[in-house]
Amino acid sequence: MKVLVATEKPFAKIAIDGIRKEIEAAGYELVLLEKYTNKSELLNAVKESNAIIIRSDIIDAEIMDSAKNLQLIVRAGAGYDNIDLDAATSRNICVMNTPGQNANAVAELALGMMIYAVRNFYNGTSGIELKGKKLGIHAYGNVGRTVARIAKGFGMEIYTYDAFCPKEVMEQDGVNVVDSAEDLYKKCQIVSLHIPATPETKNSINYSLLKNMPLNPILVNTARKEVINEVELIKLMEERTDFKYITDIIPTNNSEFVEKFVGRYFSTPKKMGAQTAEANINAGIAAAKQIVNFFKNGCEKFRVNKK
Ligand code: 3PG
Repeated sequence: MKVLVATEKPFAKIAIDGIRKEIEAAGYELVLLEKYTNKSELLNAVKESNAIIIRSDIIDAEIMDSAKNLQLIVRAGAGYDNIDLDAATSRNICVMNTPGQNANAVAELALGMMIYAVRNFYNGTSGIELKGKKLGIHAYGNVGRTVARIAKGFGMEIYTYDAFCPKEVMEQDGVNVVDSAEDLYKKCQIVSLHIPATPETKNSINYSLLKNMPLNPILVNTARKEVINEVELIKLMEERTDFKYITDIIPTNNSEFVEKFVGRYFSTPKKMGAQTAEANINAGIAAAKQIVNFFKNGCEKFRVNKK
């Protein structure tokens, strides 16, 4: 049984050691393809694989067709918008994620980005504090609720909106639940995005939603770039010179943001929310365990595609 770890953005070495231990203890072989730069490398590497562990790596029908023995794809992380789920289903390939395993890392980065923004990107000028500010958490999954927990420690006033999570579940955490995304953005000076990229959410963070944010607003995006309507965000930031945007996912129009919004825009060079040793260990080892459990016991817990 061959298990391939295919990560354009590699795990910390300590996580690879942990993955190897799990896979080899089960009697399987671990193959590594890290920091690859061409799809052809991935097409070649998957040829003999029975299972693959990936991160944000794109797995489309062509990759699946190159992997004749592939039975399982585990996305070591939360979002699986990088995998063609229908193509997997039609080829009888099971797709899983490892929900929650990297949530703390992403949430810590979101708070770090808030501090970076309110302190004027550490340029030495007088900023403001997070304490007492209204924070809107858009979607209350594993990351959103961890952001809420940490933000409480900063003394922020927390508001949440989630189209799917029951109100009572959120209220149990002592947050203020609002009934619509419109309400959330109207109320909160800082909004942290934690929605997945789906056909419904793509481009949904748009001009009409953002324009009503209070004075000196900050949008923090550690979710996906696709959820932002970039053209409309640029228009809004041109009009509202008090608006700041900070993200760990480089926008498609990055150079335009860089040129136009000096001192109001920041993006990390690579998506780095989940880029910690701890998150790599948690998500990587969970993925390895899920693979062993799938092959040894037929366990499909965490399956995300249809059968
Ligand atoms: C996720 O969906 O789990 C996060 O966005 C992290 O993605 P990454 O594994 O590419 O860092």
